[in-house]
Amino acid sequence: MADSQISVVIGAQWGDEGKGKVTDFLAAEADFVVRFQGGNNAGHTICVGDKVYKLHLIPSGVISERAVSVIGCGVAVDPKVLVSELEGLKDAGIAVNLRVSERAHLIMPYHLAVDGALNSFQGDLSAGSTGRGIMAAFADKAYRHGIRVGDIIDPDLFAEKLKKAYEFNTRLIAAFGGNFSESFSSVYERYLELGRTLVPYICDTELLLHRAFKDGKRILFEGAQGMSLDPDHGLYPHGTSSNNVAGYVEVGAGVGLNMRKRIVGVVKAYTSRVGQGPVVTEIEGVLADHLRTKGAEFGTTTGRARRIGWLDLVQLKQAARVSGITEIALTKLDVLSGLDEICVATGYDVDGKIISEMPASLSMIRRAKPIYKTFPGWKDIGSAKRYEDLPKEILSYCEYLERELSCPIGIVSYGPKRNETIVRKCQVER
Ligand code: IMP
Repeated sequence: MADSQISVVIGAQWGDEGKGKVTDFLAAEADFVVRFQGGNNAGHTICVGDKVYKLHLIPSGVISERAVSVIGCGVAVDPKVLVSELEGLKDAGIAVNLRVSERAHLIMPYHLAVDGALNSFQGDLSAGSTGRGIMAAFADKAYRHGIRVGDIIDPDLFAEKLKKAYEFNTRLIAAFGGNFSESFSSVYERYLELGRTLVPYICDTELLLHRAFKDGKRILFEGAQGMSLDPDHGLYPHGTSSNNVAGYVEVGAGVGLNMRKRIVGVVKAYTSRVGQGPVVTEIEGVLADHLRTKGAEFGTTTGRARRIGWLDLVQLKQAARVSGITEIALTKLDVLSGLDEICVATGYDVDGKIISEMPASLSMIRRAKPIYKTFPGWKDIGSAKRYEDLPKEILSYCEYLERELSCPIGIVSYGPKRNETIVRKCQVER
């Protein structure tokens, strides 16, 4: 993390950019690693030696075993998933030092049924969710009858709140043709039991992080999802239900950070997307199949085949601007090796008009056609250890991106392993 006390890792595309690997890498120098939004819709893959870890809720920094892992109040927590992830890490011999915010909202079992029913109802306007109950949990938070982590360790308050939430959600499920049959008392007992298991981890993480910040501890925030899935800035309504731009860190972790931050925007050298909605640079056919297979582009959470596309500068410019990205981590360059030509969309053609900034209008995005600039491909990256050792075609591709995005590339990743990573020291002010 070099000189920055506060670092933030966020996705600059549609999620699945390789944030897990970048977080694991940077966590080596962090005292705290914090999730601040999303839920177990996220899937972060970390490869250490010949071991592969797949995480959905606990920050990827947990694998380095150095930092305290924190699940902040902005995360939707499915306590069942959390308990099984904790058990999985224990079985893998990983020492987990975890704290979970008592203010974080819970994903309850009826939320999964609401998610399914509403996705069907929304039809062509749905996002094709991961089916993990994310939208329903965040909706209940906004409706103000959400259940929070701290509630399941307070039996009387939990009963009082669950009565309202259970009735509301079961009526909603029935109205939209969903399926949910678990009784109130079964949900109540099951979640009290989960609360008993999780009690050692639950605390006021906002205060914990404030004290850590004041003590000069290094804090790394790990984003989930990516720019175009953000409910305010992404391709609404084809996105998720919690903000993932860097500005959300202070809300979703509950800590004021009045200082300059290192904001690492993770950019995959091409594009992928799971779920529904327009992807202007989408490609299909043999090339898409090749990249999907070579890049293992199948959802970590759902196993769904990811849609594939070329890099989109319109999307990246918006990400750099909205999140204030201070450096880019460019990932999966190895997946493009061997191609004769690489394309980058520099703008969109919408009804004959050229657009270079992301429009808010969904109908414009639906009509947008990509305008491409092509670059010569490269054969093989080998085992480059320094940025300068990368093939000259990659270097000119990177220089172009840096110029267009007005942002340095600070990290280059060309394989899933920790040692397939190059960190540029002097070019990037941290
Ligand atoms: P939800 O967050 O499960 O409601 O899904 C909403 C949209 O975001 C869907 O298009 C999902 O495929 C997408 N999405 C949610 N989480 C992730 C992620 O971690 N990676 C990639 N796509 C995601």
